Amino acid sequence: EGYVVAVVGATGAVGQTMLEILAERDFPVATLIPLASSRSAGSAVTFKGSEYIVQDLEQFDPSGVDIALFSAGGDTSLRHAPRFAEAGCYVVDNSSAWRMDPEVALVVPEVNPEALEMARHNRIIANPNCSTIQMVVALKPLHDAVPIQRVVVSTYQAVSGAGARAINELAKQTGQLLSSQDATVEVFSSRIAFNVIPHIDLFMDDGYTKEERKMINETVKIMGADIAVTATTVRVPVFYGHSESVNITFSAPLDAERARSLLSEAEGVCVVDDPSTEDYPMPSEAAGSDPVWVGRIRNDLSCPNSLHLWVVADNIRKGAALNAVQIAEILIS
Ligand code: A2P
Repeated sequence: EGYVVAVVGATGAVGQTMLEILAERDFPVATLIPLASSRSAGSAVTFKGSEYIVQDLEQFDPSGVDIALFSAGGDTSLRHAPRFAEAGCYVVDNSSAWRMDPEVALVVPEVNPEALEMARHNRIIANPNCSTIQMVVALKPLHDAVPIQRVVVSTYQAVSGAGARAINELAKQTGQLLSSQDATVEVFSSRIAFNVIPHIDLFMDDGYTKEERKMINETVKIMGADIAVTATTVRVPVFYGHSESVNITFSAPLDAERARSLLSEAEGVCVVDDPSTEDYPMPSEAAGSDPVWVGRIRNDLSCPNSLHLWVVADNIRKGAALNAVQIAEILIS
């Protein structure tokens, strides 16, 4: 009664949360197999109160695995996801390696669950970029009411999106600066403590970063609509929870009041939006929670048919681990 589930990258920031979410949601796991690199093979992870020994992905034979949740970086996915899929296993991959492959489904369950049909033959499903996921969950109910023409987004992204070493770097630098030492810079391109870095992932020739390009391309693929998207992605000294300022232009009028009511009823969305009581979403409150939180919903007074939203979600949960487990739940249903 249950499935053989492998978690690839089980020692990482996302992998650890995948284990928690599988347990929380009582996913039918008959056998759990945590995998990572040879560096942490032999160490233990905890699942539902029991310890499991981490195995080396390189040495592991995937025969008999039903579902593998991958979160161990793009290179690892490119090398190992195909051999899991060929062994008959469904792979839900959290890296960017397969997302824009036209043969691979890129899925946010609240937005395009129907795309999973494509996965029946190739068995690899891509989990979108964290910033893209929370934005499209908020865009979808609005786009269904009035088609969206253009989106301008600026992000305020937590360090946990860059993994466990990045979380440690923010903590360590904060301590160093508060005790008048120099900050040690290892993971990010500059100091992240008490700073804001307008640079996530690599720069491309056109001046955009790859993170920005992901938001642009993935939004179009997931929404299945020719929406013009432009993005500026920024790292901020927050541990958990990405925030986004989203400006939307529609093809016809959709005012803030109607948007608020559509979002209040949307799956996976919680509206917190009351200026009179100073209520709006923040990462300090969204961290550890499942919904996409939306507030500051207001008409853009500078442009017709346009709205502003402020969108916050736990980037490790809805932005990664939770979305992957939700996809796995659809695959077994
Ligand atoms: P390991 O503990 O062996 O380094 P994070 O995003 O928090 O940095 O986590 C990355 C996850 O991906 C970790 O579990 C890490 O395992 C795993 N990982 C990184 N590189 C590889 C690899 N080449 N093969 C398997 N797992 C890997």
